[in-house]
Amino acid sequence: MNERILLGITASAAAFKGVALASLLRKEGYEVDGILSMNALRFVSDTQLACVTGRPVFSSLFTDQPGDPVPHISLTDGCSLLIVAPATADYIAKTANGIADDLLTSVFLANEAPVVMAPSMNSRMWANPATDGNVSKLRNRGITFAGPASGHLACGSMGEGRMMDPVEILSICLRILSGKY
Ligand SMILES: Cc1cc2nc3c(=O)[nH]c(=O)nc-3n(C[C@H](O)[C@H](O)[C@H](O)COP(=O)(O)O)c2cc1C
Repeated sequence: MNERILLGITASAAAFKGVALASLLRKEGYEVDGILSMNALRFVSDTQLACVTGRPVFSSLFTDQPGDPVPHISLTDGCSLLIVAPATADYIAKTANGIADDLLTSVFLANEAPVVMAPSMNSRMWANPATDGNVSKLRNRGITFAGPASGHLACGSMGEGRMMDPVEILSICLRILSGKY
């Protein structure tokens, strides 16, 4: 059986780049289970992500007719890597503080595989001491941060906070998966 990766996408202007990363991971031969935060559904669709992964896409912790009543646990069982790209300031803050109030934050708490986060946000949000402290907390717990890069931001300004290029994130993920990072 192929290795399975969890790819979370949160509600950033760079959400479409998360879909591109899913495509790259699948081309490398990985099974990719896509998870969209509820707010990410305002930026990309579950159908779009499912077309790229070829698998069901998840976003709800609770469903009306649960085929699986505990998706946050079953998704994390046996996965090789959890990637969250893009990762919003909100997601970073919640996970740094143990908050698990939706599927993707609950997956983070239940997960035992290595984690890569690719932050994406306005440069002032990235520089905010609250975000900085949250990133430090997660780094100290072994979370790998891919980026952010500097450059043009969705708000029209330049600065640090741009999501790293999906090809570069892929390269970091492949090194982690092969134990060479
Ligand atoms: C158009 C638009 C673009 C946004 N882009 C970002 C972003 O790039 N990074 C970020 O941290 N928040 C961004 N936000 C704010 C998040 O969407 C907001 O904090 C949301 O609650 C995050 O939800 P999630 O972390 O559950 O996905 C944006 C909001 C809007 C309206």
